[in-house]
Amino acid sequence: MRSWKAAILAGVVAFAAAGSTFAADVKIGFLVKQPEEPWFQDEWKFADQAAKEKGFTLVKIGAEDGEKVQSAIDNLAAQGAQGFIICTPDVKLGPGIVAKAAANDLKVMTVDDRLVGADGKPLEDVVHMGISATKIGETVGQAIAEEIKKRGWDMKDVGAIRVSYDQLPTAVDRVEGAIAALKAAGFPAENIYDAPQAKTDTEAALNAATTVLNKNANVKHWVAFGLNDEAVLGAVRATESVGIAAENVIGVGIGGAESAINEFKKPTPTGFFGTVIISPKRHGYETALNMYEWIANGKEPEKLTLTAGALALRDTYEAVRKDLGIE
Ligand code: GLA
Repeated sequence: MRSWKAAILAGVVAFAAAGSTFAADVKIGFLVKQPEEPWFQDEWKFADQAAKEKGFTLVKIGAEDGEKVQSAIDNLAAQGAQGFIICTPDVKLGPGIVAKAAANDLKVMTVDDRLVGADGKPLEDVVHMGISATKIGETVGQAIAEEIKKRGWDMKDVGAIRVSYDQLPTAVDRVEGAIAALKAAGFPAENIYDAPQAKTDTEAALNAATTVLNKNANVKHWVAFGLNDEAVLGAVRATESVGIAAENVIGVGIGGAESAINEFKKPTPTGFFGTVIISPKRHGYETALNMYEWIANGKEPEKLTLTAGALALRDTYEAVRKDLGIE
């Protein structure tokens, strides 16, 4: 009897040990296109939290171009990783990334930016988590339209800067969502000026917006929207640099990470009026956890998850963040 119990106990111990050894064997890569951007720093932070909780290893890699993506995938395979999550520097790398992952027997999931095939259509077989881009864009447009009305501006005296990065589908959906909402509120389409940014950072947005402002020096008031907070911050910095007063500018971003919050903390309001806060926790923690479950327990994640956003303004951001459970 005693030895029988001992045998079971030994079995349980061995099983538990095997289980935990397996968690420690799991290695997951998390590749992001712009490691210096607060959004991606936050994604990594939350992915790390999942790694700590589950006991797997997370390898964080900045992959700013196609070559870095290729070598990072090879590297991960050489290190014995079983899968990776990627926000690609270029969605057109899609088929190459999928082929490289398959050749190395690595599971792949995308976050933020969805891969496209040669025909420009999304690779629907690849597991993806992104934001509800059109809807969030509409929230941006509505917030701007409401504030235009509150300030009593005549829409015909307002110019809109569309900070654009049209090679990225989620960027197009976001700005087009904003435009749809603005038009629905009566904003004249001919007052919308495209400001294509060469890269998705603040500096590139500043340069793009400056060109628009210089070409349209007679416009009285300005509004701005774009892919993310960085895009809108760039446009706001551009208005400041050409001497437009903050009360004549309404910029609404998307993100809600450090760069936006710092703006709200400034003692005097700037033209950065608001942001739609999105969730780096879902995009970092949840993707990492999903990849872990896939590797360790064969549980394949949902093919497509779209996350929501919540509008936050200078005087509401603290309450909104609290509601969302941030800090
Ligand atoms: C894109 C943008 C990021 C962030 C994410 C959110 O990748 O470049 O700044 O907005 O989408 O999904």
